Amino acid sequence: MVQGMLGIMIRRLSSTTLRKRRVLVRVDVNVPIAGSRVTGDFRIRAHLPTIRLLLKGGNTLVLLAHHSTDGQTLAPVARRLSRLIGEPVGFLKDPAHPGMLQHRVMLAENLRRWRGEEAAGRAFARMLARLGDAFVNDAFAVAHRHAASTAILPKLLPSYIGPLFAEEIAELDRILQRPKRPLVAVFGGAKLETKLKLLQRFDALADRVLVGGSIANALLIARGTAIADPRARKEVTAAVRALARSRRIVLPIDAAVATAPTDRRIAVRSIADIRRGEGMYDIGPETVRLFAKEIGGAKTIIWNGPLGMTEIAAFRAGTLAVAKAIARSRGRSTVGGGDTIAWLEAEGLAKKFNYVSTGGGAMLAYLAGEKLPALEALKRS
Ligand code: 3PG
Repeated sequence: MVQGMLGIMIRRLSSTTLRKRRVLVRVDVNVPIAGSRVTGDFRIRAHLPTIRLLLKGGNTLVLLAHHSTDGQTLAPVARRLSRLIGEPVGFLKDPAHPGMLQHRVMLAENLRRWRGEEAAGRAFARMLARLGDAFVNDAFAVAHRHAASTAILPKLLPSYIGPLFAEEIAELDRILQRPKRPLVAVFGGAKLETKLKLLQRFDALADRVLVGGSIANALLIARGTAIADPRARKEVTAAVRALARSRRIVLPIDAAVATAPTDRRIAVRSIADIRRGEGMYDIGPETVRLFAKEIGGAKTIIWNGPLGMTEIAAFRAGTLAVAKAIARSRGRSTVGGGDTIAWLEAEGLAKKFNYVSTGGGAMLAYLAGEKLPALEALKRS
């Protein structure tokens, strides 16, 4: 059992909990796929210990998963998983018509191809429930979504939190409840309104909160910097102004700027010198130095979100340099963020952090103190 956020017990899986059963396992294998090839398998590998544990108990498994890309098939994931576990993985094209389940491990097609998944439909969940005698939710990374396979299924079958899910929660709880100080948080990305609660919580909890990416813009404006970003200007509410006054919040002091993300003429300017019509697409070298100094002195570091527009190679330098500073630091580092992890893997950097979370949005939601529908459902199951 693990103690949940509300003090309600959740059934936890051990090597003897489930034996010779048909087990439905919710996994998050929402990974980058190019054509018919998986191009980053970190999230798949993260579930291997759970899969092996259940197979050791003589169970047969039906893995349930989604993909964010509309209509994307999970067939390439089944092939990659099969290579990783060294045995065939069957692919269940239509969970409503399973036929004979021919392999010890089956992966069902992207559940979001059926409306019932995202609509959290009971009938859809009941159909899934017929495929197993027990349910294990190992998918922390999608725990913030209220869907049939995350929030309804646990009410229909004996349900357990999977080892990966439990480990992710324990890691984040350690940071929230008993961090070694100084605790330095690094947050980036876009859409400040979705990260306000998180920043407020960490302003109260952390010793320093380093903010980059476009979420920094409204905070810079609130501190009196003239930045021509109409969207950020609208984001400057009383709450943002209060946050901007905090000395714990550290904002960029320079940036890589251009007139458009596709513009190849990139200049580096201090924030005060940014010209009319220029947008900030990455943090600059002075900011990297400032952030690296804070990171170097930290005993605990938590990072989520890119510090620039990393989908464009020319604007990755700042995020990459901060990633390297975190990797070098002697503090314990925990990083998350689906897309960031995929390219840190490609850069060979992911293994240099102490803990790499599979969660992006789920990690942010949990850190912000929000209830995760999947965790709540397990508490009640
Ligand atoms: C993620 O990548 O953060 C999870 O798999 C959830 O995906 P979603 O944002 O498409 O719900």
